[in-house]
Amino acid sequence: MAEHDRPDLIERHGRQERLQHWVVALLFLLAAASGMALFHPALFWLAAVLGGGTWSVILHPFVGLAMALVFARFAAPQWGDNRLLPNDRVWLERLREVIEGRDEHLPEVGKYNAGQKVLYFVMVACVAVLALTGLAIWRRYFAGGLPVGVVRAAALLHALAAFVLVLGAVVHVAAALWVKGAVGAMTRGTVTIGWAWKHHRAWFRQMIRPTGGR
Ligand code: HEM
Repeated sequence: MAEHDRPDLIERHGRQERLQHWVVALLFLLAAASGMALFHPALFWLAAVLGGGTWSVILHPFVGLAMALVFARFAAPQWGDNRLLPNDRVWLERLREVIEGRDEHLPEVGKYNAGQKVLYFVMVACVAVLALTGLAIWRRYFAGGLPVGVVRAAALLHALAAFVLVLGAVVHVAAALWVKGAVGAMTRGTVTIGWAWKHHRAWFRQMIRPTGGR
């Protein structure tokens, strides 16, 4: 039976969304590796990812900008699903139950839980700061026309935002691997009814309405 005919599966992420997500993930790895290589000599070995030091200097800004653009296309339509609601505070206050997997002690969760929502806004803020400060410190095109103080402040903010985004991505990947069945949501695009009921019950109820969640 073709996967889309299986009555026990619900679509969570469409084809285009999944493609955008994995392009962002790949560009993120390339930008993060080449960025760290340029940040500190101890991490210079990572420059090999983009073909050496010179190529890292040339390509890092283009890879980063491409990541920011694809990320904007991917993340903008999800803004509404990530809006924080009163129940999200309760969810965050009961993190212990979350970690112990006692979802029945938590408020019903919509498409994304409060942890995912907070991380979403952290990622949006970091990518925006990285893109803006990255342009400001891009010597070849922009940095020359800006006061040196602005370029220095931008360089500092760029490194800070990169650090937070890398930490955020580590938490994101760990959470995706930890919640069994979550990775399939972004590879196949579907989750089981049981998974939706356990982890995102309010979203599940919305999806089984005759309008199919629309
Ligand atoms: C190998 C790396 C990655 C893995 C394994 C991964 C895994 C996943 C999975 C499984 C989901 C679906 C979660 C769900 O439907 O509940 C997801 C969603 C998402 N991912 Fe990733 N991801 C990776 C890298 C990234 C990177 C680098 C970014 C951004 C810089 C990112 C941003 C997002 C966002 C914004 C969502 C939507 C969730 C939300 O809006 O709260 N991911 N990811």
